[in-house]
Parts: sequence; C-alpha cells; structure tokens
Amino acid sequence: MSKHFKIAVLSGDGIGPEVTLESIKILKTIGEVFEYSFEFENGLVGAEAIFQTGNPLPDETLELCKSSDAVLFGAIGDPSFDNNPDAKVRPEQGLLKLRKELGLFANIRPLKTYKSLIKKSPLKEEIIDGTDIQIFRELVSGIYFGEKFTDSEEGYAYDVCKYTVNEITPIAHMAFQEAQKRRKKLTLVDKANVLDTSRLWRKTCKEIAEQYPDVELDFIFVDNAAMQLILNPKSFDVILTENMFGDIISDEASVIGGSIGLLPSASIGSENAMFEPIHGSYPQAKGKGIANPIASILSAAMMLDYLKLDAAAEKLRESVEHAIENRYVTVDLSAQQPYSTAEVGSFIADYIRFSEKSYYNHENVSLGKSTIV
Ligand code: IPM
Ligand code: MN
Repeated sequence: MSKHFKIAVLSGDGIGPEVTLESIKILKTIGEVFEYSFEFENGLVGAEAIFQTGNPLPDETLELCKSSDAVLFGAIGDPSFDNNPDAKVRPEQGLLKLRKELGLFANIRPLKTYKSLIKKSPLKEEIIDGTDIQIFRELVSGIYFGEKFTDSEEGYAYDVCKYTVNEITPIAHMAFQEAQKRRKKLTLVDKANVLDTSRLWRKTCKEIAEQYPDVELDFIFVDNAAMQLILNPKSFDVILTENMFGDIISDEASVIGGSIGLLPSASIGSENAMFEPIHGSYPQAKGKGIANPIASILSAAMMLDYLKLDAAAEKLRESVEHAIENRYVTVDLSAQQPYSTAEVGSFIADYIRFSEKSYYNHENVSLGKSTIV
C-alpha cells in the first residue's frame, strides 16, 4: 500500500482553522514517526468561502476533495448568517452539498467516557461511567435533503422527509457489522408510531437482521431514546438512526462525556471519506486559543483507521488519553489550570514522538517551553 496520502484540508469557519491546525501538527508528527508522507492541500468552504467567492462550496474545493485520499474538515457557520433568516446563501449549504456530492452516507460518532473527566459531566458518575456508544447517523437523505419550500405570501413552508430502501440498506449493514465487533447490540432509533419513513427503516432493518443472527436488534422511539440516553446510557451499544434524529441525539449524547469538544466523527461513502469534529464553529472563541482541539485530533485518528494505518491510529489515541488523564486540557475541561489549543496539540505531538523515553511537566508547558524534560 502507498505510504503517501493526499489530505484535503477544509478548515472552514470560527474555531475550525485553529483546531484543524493541531490535527495537521499531529499528522505531520505521525508521518515522521511512522514514515508516511501526508500532503495537505487547503480548500475554501463555508462562510469564509462565501465572503471570498460568493459560494459556500466552490468547484475547486469539491474537485480537491474528490482527488484526495481523505478530507479533514474543521467547522462551519457564522453568526452573520444565523441571525439573518433571509440570507439566500448559507455556510451550512456548503457542508450539506459536500456530504451529498461525496456520497458520505454514514456518519459515525463514537462516544465514551474518560475516568479523569467523569466529574465534568453534569450527569451522575454511576450513570455514565463505562459508557461506550457508536452512533451511526444516515447523512445524505431524509428531511435535510427532501424537497423544501417557503411561501412567504401565504405564510407556509414545508420540508419533505423521504427515504428509500436503497438508502437505508448500506448504513444498516455497516451498523450491524460494527455491532458484531462490539457487544452485539444494535438499536434503531425512530418514530415508527408516527412516521412512514420510520416504519420503512424498521422493516428494512428487520430483514437485514436475518443476515446477522448474532446481533440483537431492538427499536426505540426517538423521544424515549432522548430520555434513556441520559438515564441509562450504558444500555446502548451501536445506535442506528436517520439524519435529523442522529443530529439531535449525538449533541445530546456529547453531554455524557463532559464536553462536546472531545467528540470526533467520520463520514464515510463508497469512494470518499471526511473527518470532522461534531462541534460547531463556536465563533465567540475564534482566535482566542481556548478551543479544545481533541475532537479534531480524534477525527484525525478515525482518518488513520480509514487509511488502515492501525498502529499510528492506536498511538494517537493513546497520546490523547495520556493528555486527558494528565489534565493537559483546554479550559472547557480544566478551569483551574487550562492549556491553550496549541499547547494541547503540542503536548500530544510530543508524546507521540517521545513517549518511550520521557516524562512531562506541567510547569514547562505553562511557560511555553518544551514539554520534554
Ligand atoms: C452536524 C451539524 C450540521 C448538521 C450542520 C452544521 C448543518 O450540526 O454536523 O451535526 O446538522 O448536520
Ligand atoms: Mn449537529
């Protein structure tokens, strides 16, 4: 297999560029340590692309993504659009078009708790300790992509939610296969008591389940799932769900781990793949060096999995865990002794490079000196 990889970097808006920079720092270190070469090429997307070109996803960016081995994505969104319901062009359209054009049908959002952060969660320790969930969210169909219409004169609007069996089948297989590697439990989250699309999801998944007799398939309505996720998160192993339910419950689930700034995601298609933190552009923090880079860095680890660089992915995760367990974390996780975005990235990079022979010291990090003693 080739040891050279071309990575499209779409760092986007708000804190996107600063957290993505840390992932690049780390991938460069991984490249040196494991002898792979990563070539990074930047593309414009989101509000930044609208300001510069008028288009949230310029053609060159799409071409760049298609010709790359993987896409590293930062964040998208800008308050100047959020507060303007009449805006014709929106940054989010760039992300949605990118997902659609690249055929990224499966969005995978893993969630687990870290021992040293357990107290950061607003939920009780005994409820969340040991939670380990993988959310499979369908990403290129449903209400996000159905016909939409606004009639301002008459005062009505609609968004159509439509699914086909062919759209449900591939992500269902992926979720069953993931469950086989884990605790062998797959939960379909839907609203089958009300929605036809949900009944189609249930029927399709029941049929596919026959090919996976070792996996227990169960069903839960999304309103109840929202409650169970925070009452009894350990009851879930792999969750499979449609686009909008997945969007909502994955933000909810992020509370379990203590910070949304920790959660990565992979968006996988048959030809392309993109890796992005699940958090948004957090414009209030832009340029302040306080954003947590770990969600982006763990997304880079998912990228290494996808490129089948298993040893590198494992080393990267071990280094992130080391940073978290030793509280080398940003202000969202440590108000008393916070480190900057760049310091956390450098600490993780240094650990990747030197973990075998060194130890670290908080004082040097906070003085901005080398973390290696
Ligand atoms: C996400 C985001 C996006 C979504 C927005 C920015 C369009 O919330 O990736 O979860 O709703 O899918
Ligand atoms: Mn979301």
